[in-house]
Amino acid sequence: MTDALRELLRAAPEAAGARLPASRVLAEELSVSRMTVTSAYDQLVAEGYLVTRRGGGTYVARELPHLAPPAPTPRKAPEPPRPWLPFQPGLPDQSLFPHRIWARHLERVWRQPDPALLDRPDSFGWPALRAAIASHLSAWRGLDCTPEQVLITGGASDGFDLIGRALLPAGARMAIEDPGWATLEHTLRGIGIAPVALRVDSEGLDPTRLPEDCAAVNVTPSRHYPTGVAMPLARRLALLDWAHRASALIIEDDYDSEFRYQGQPLPALAGLDGLQRVIYMGSFSKLLSPALRIGYLVVPEALIEKLRATLSVTGSRASLVPQPALAAFMASGEFATHLRRMRRTYARRQAHLLEALTPLSECLDLAPDPSGMHLCIDLRPALGVRITDAEISRRAAADGLTLRALSSHSVLPEPPQGLLFGYAGFTESQLSAAAARLCDLLAPLCAGPA
Ligand SMILES: Cc1ncc(COP(=O)(O)O)c(C=O)c1O
Repeated sequence: MTDALRELLRAAPEAAGARLPASRVLAEELSVSRMTVTSAYDQLVAEGYLVTRRGGGTYVARELPHLAPPAPTPRKAPEPPRPWLPFQPGLPDQSLFPHRIWARHLERVWRQPDPALLDRPDSFGWPALRAAIASHLSAWRGLDCTPEQVLITGGASDGFDLIGRALLPAGARMAIEDPGWATLEHTLRGIGIAPVALRVDSEGLDPTRLPEDCAAVNVTPSRHYPTGVAMPLARRLALLDWAHRASALIIEDDYDSEFRYQGQPLPALAGLDGLQRVIYMGSFSKLLSPALRIGYLVVPEALIEKLRATLSVTGSRASLVPQPALAAFMASGEFATHLRRMRRTYARRQAHLLEALTPLSECLDLAPDPSGMHLCIDLRPALGVRITDAEISRRAAADGLTLRALSSHSVLPEPPQGLLFGYAGFTESQLSAAAARLCDLLAPLCAGPA
């Protein structure tokens, strides 16, 4: 009734100021309940189409709110999401995510939520998840910490944002690895932290090159992103030395160390330091799914209060909805089972990819990697003298392949050349087909005149 009356008023501007029938009369005329009429009148009074006058009566407003309905704005049809293409790096195979188990945990938690879930949340995150992460780190990363030191974030980039805002002075300088993770550079600039790029070598970041005036350094010591090199013990110790001398923080981004195919995962740097100057950073984006948007920081005890003070103003970082389900998933052992399964799958995929690329062994320096989700492969001179990694990447994109150039992860001049082959998120047959396409693209280049 409200809609019909509104349309009527819009269509008859000459009715402005006219008195409407009393609700009882109109209800009788239309054979509807009086309540239907009064609620339509009330709604249209609230919208400004009708007015009531002291002494009684409902009238059509002299100025109707919008007599002409707004012209529909032409809308472009939304673009359909573009699927991931091989060799997109850093992508877990989400079709192997244990959706059913996950749904069962979510349903169990939220069908009858623990009253604490409906109360004021702890700004560091759901306590059971923090405890589950602490025991995961002890078992998988050789890192001893208490659940109180674990802070749940909306992922690694969100963790950097929090560290920058809560723990570093405005305009502080943070040393970062080059090549490195482009998102980090972007995040730091966005919060007024000046990134200081340092070129890494075959042992990762060289601590002797760290400027004393940096308030922090970001490293990926277990597996440098994106080259995959591990930082040896001597450098780790030198890095800790520098941090103590410069009173600086080390942020250890440990994004996929669980996927190690030979030997034990290298222990976390934070464990060497007893969590004094190192903030350890983890994420479920690669271990489970980037759609979760859940990561965490493990922070030195001395920093807990400062972080709590910032979070008391901004609120907690991550949605509480998935946290109890993730805690149950981890505590039940299903998470560890999933990681072991994915580790086996990814190891097979890496070996399969290397095999599929063997026709290119004159062009690419093919070698297995003991860990990770992508291979960072150097160009052999036969290819490197003829074409840059960026040009290969561009031509591969035109051929429907995502082949990231190593140089695109660098901001310093004369970046190293190489190609990133993500294999974790693709089946063996997808990898074979993509490798065959790449062979067609690169083999003639290698064979042609220099
Ligand atoms: C080096 C590195 N660290 C951490 C992450 C995880 O980021 P997030 O948790 O924000 O998804 C990524 C993801 O691509 C990464 O490449």
